[in-house]
Amino acid sequence: MSKRRRLIAGNWKMNKTTSEARDYAMAFLEKVGDVTDLDMVICAPFTALAVLKEELEESIVHIGAQNMYHEAKGAFTGEISAEMLKDLACTYVILGHSERREYLKEDDELIAKKVKAALEAGLTPILCVGENLTLREAGKALAFVRGQVEKDLVDLQPAELRKVVIAYEPIWAIGTGKTASAEDAQEMCSAIRSTLAGIAGAVAQEIRILYGGSVKPGNIAELVAQPDIDGALVGGASLEASEFAQIIQNAR
Ligand code: PGA
Repeated sequence: MSKRRRLIAGNWKMNKTTSEARDYAMAFLEKVGDVTDLDMVICAPFTALAVLKEELEESIVHIGAQNMYHEAKGAFTGEISAEMLKDLACTYVILGHSERREYLKEDDELIAKKVKAALEAGLTPILCVGENLTLREAGKALAFVRGQVEKDLVDLQPAELRKVVIAYEPIWAIGTGKTASAEDAQEMCSAIRSTLAGIAGAVAQEIRILYGGSVKPGNIAELVAQPDIDGALVGGASLEASEFAQIIQNAR
């Protein structure tokens, strides 16, 4: 048995108004309010965080954001700082999601700054990495993802690295209904852990690595049974409180 505590994270992406977020939080808590053997986090749009703070701050469900900026304050129109997220009871933040890398042109240099800033502020970053189909078919997936991990975690001390969560999300599996096989996901998560060992030594054994990409109630158990998969980052199947609660039950 690994010492690592499992983590199931929901990523709502650009979904839910404040009233939808409130209804969800109430329904979700009714189903998972007694789950204490793993960590749960809902990563919501910035606009829903104040409502989640009201509904979830006193509960065992953690609150997360889906992005932040690395500067502390100032003339950065439209951006949100780590302190602002903490003020809304956030303890997690997704960074470097493939949708932001692709549509918002975030690169590894920027993502590394965000990871460092999140850690300095005391937030737990969920750093997303993963290859596209072209890289996978060319046999370059492992090298590409190892490179992302190295670039995005540059200049961090082992004590900081211990607090990072990595989410391996193959882009071809996101929102497509095509999950990576448990074996392929394990192979990559094991490669990520050995990359982490190269950077942080024994601390790599403490770092949680999640799988993401079409996770559902029916495939979560097989995924978390793998030795290097410590949980999941769930997009589409986190949008219904009852389906996400079922994923959590099946991950225990
Ligand atoms: P999906 O998204 O579960 O809808 O595939 C996962 C993610 O992008 O985090």
